[in-house]
Amino acid sequence: MGIAVVTGAGQGLGQATAVRLAADGHEVVVLDLDLDRARETAEAVDGQAHRCDVTDRDAVHAVASRLPSCAALVNNAGIWRFHSILDMSEDDARAVIDVNVLGVVWCTQAFAPLMKAGGGGSIVNLSSGAAWTHSPGLGMYPATKSAVESLTRTMALELGPSGIRANAVGPGLVVSDGTAANYQGDRASERAQGVPLGRVGAPGDIADVVAFLCGDQARYVNGQIIYVDGGITAGRAAM
Ligand SMILES: NC(=O)c1ccc[n+]([C@@H]2O[C@H](COP(=O)([O-])OP(=O)(O)OC[C@H]3O[C@@H](n4cnc5c(N)ncnc54)[C@H](O)[C@@H]3O)[C@@H](O)[C@H]2O)c1
Repeated sequence: MGIAVVTGAGQGLGQATAVRLAADGHEVVVLDLDLDRARETAEAVDGQAHRCDVTDRDAVHAVASRLPSCAALVNNAGIWRFHSILDMSEDDARAVIDVNVLGVVWCTQAFAPLMKAGGGGSIVNLSSGAAWTHSPGLGMYPATKSAVESLTRTMALELGPSGIRANAVGPGLVVSDGTAANYQGDRASERAQGVPLGRVGAPGDIADVVAFLCGDQARYVNGQIIYVDGGITAGRAAM
């Protein structure tokens, strides 16, 4: 299956994706800001760990220069700083754009040439249902995920001729390490009421779809955005 690079795989959806891709036979390369967490994931999947900030273009290229090849790249690292537009600070706005948008671009620039040299590959970018539904108070986050979707389509057009497919997965409400605080007590069941399937998501729900897009069964899927959200983006739930 080849080497799969997963950014932000020290915890949450990225970690679940690393585990799923390793089960599929990929050799997983874990990138995260937090080296201890990256190492934990890498040990679990018998892969390699790198402390790497996806906003640091040179650091991302340095990791790529140490790899012999790359078959899959999962641009999963993402952050959120929730404020109204009027309350958003410059630091928060720039941080979210840096990680969620430019991080995706820098990683793609670093790893896609390895894919190209190997005859092709698969890029999966993590978007969000928030890019589609929108809610007040999410600050720059939905705009960055809309940008991720736009970048995904551009990647599909520009890299497709090199045999590289690019798709995005948009999770809905998923309980991860980063979001667990939002699902304490009754909050999980309250939030589940807004999901047509009647439950909030787990990291493995997302990882399975990412793995599908990385694999040969998705060989003719390119430039698509797949929401994995229990139906939230399908429309307004019954009143
Ligand atoms: N959890 C959800 O409900 C949900 C919903 C929609 C979209 N998403 C998207 O899925 C992705 C993963 O979300 P999660 O809930 O697992 O998040 P999380 O906070 O649990 O994990 C994110 C990981 O990314 C790492 N990271 C952050 N900034 C980084 C950087 N600059 N460089 C390298 N690593 C960095 C963190 O250290 C952390 O290990 C994100 O892109 C997020 O926007 C999540």
